Amino acid sequence: MKVTFKIWRQENTDAQGELKAYEVDGLSEDMSFLEALDHLNEILVLKDEKVIAFEHDCREGICGQCGVFINGRAHGPHNNTTTCQLHMRSFKEGDTIVVEPWRASSFPIVKDLVVDRSAFDRIIQQGGYITAKTGTAAEANAILVSKEVSDSAMDAAACIGCGACVATCKNASAALFTAAKINHLNKLPQGQPEAHRRLLDMTAQMEFENFGSCTFTGACEIECPADISISNIAEMNARYVKAKLFG
Ligand code: FES
Repeated sequence: MKVTFKIWRQENTDAQGELKAYEVDGLSEDMSFLEALDHLNEILVLKDEKVIAFEHDCREGICGQCGVFINGRAHGPHNNTTTCQLHMRSFKEGDTIVVEPWRASSFPIVKDLVVDRSAFDRIIQQGGYITAKTGTAAEANAILVSKEVSDSAMDAAACIGCGACVATCKNASAALFTAAKINHLNKLPQGQPEAHRRLLDMTAQMEFENFGSCTFTGACEIECPADISISNIAEMNARYVKAKLFG
């Protein structure tokens, strides 16, 4: 299989970037997209050229490291799929495939396809956890959680923090990410003692990091590989006023 990759090359945050074309032969349609980039990098190494920097870790849709724009869509042409879960069979012989990094001012480009998503880490640091006094753990069966609430919390917890929601939003809003990380804890009894503070601190950090405002276009929900619902944002906003009053 032969395709032409047009890949964003940028030496560092301040350098001027550009799309560079690479004709790549010898690909298999069974290769994952990242394996195809590995193949291209091996060719570049043999030619003594600089390899393309891109992020990855698990390569199975869990860690959220591998996000790039492929032909103008976050994580490529399929819904509910990360870049590492995409295979070359999704493209045709002779295709031109444009690969770009996430584009958002809160995610500065580090090099080529790698962006700095530490703004997400700083939002999590403001309350994306629960604190509990040490001692004997409460009997699990004594903490009643309805199936509806448990399912809803688990759905929000599926967020892998890849940043596709920010990159695909015309406002570069981090509302879907932040809402998912707040809600999966605030829905459960364990998250209740710190619920108001968590919501206020994490949304304040989101604003501090210069993410844009959410205008409910719904693009984030469509491109989210973990299928996080935009209803999480509505729930976060609805609880914000209460948190302001009682937080
Ligand atoms: S490499 Fe972990 S989600 Fe893609």
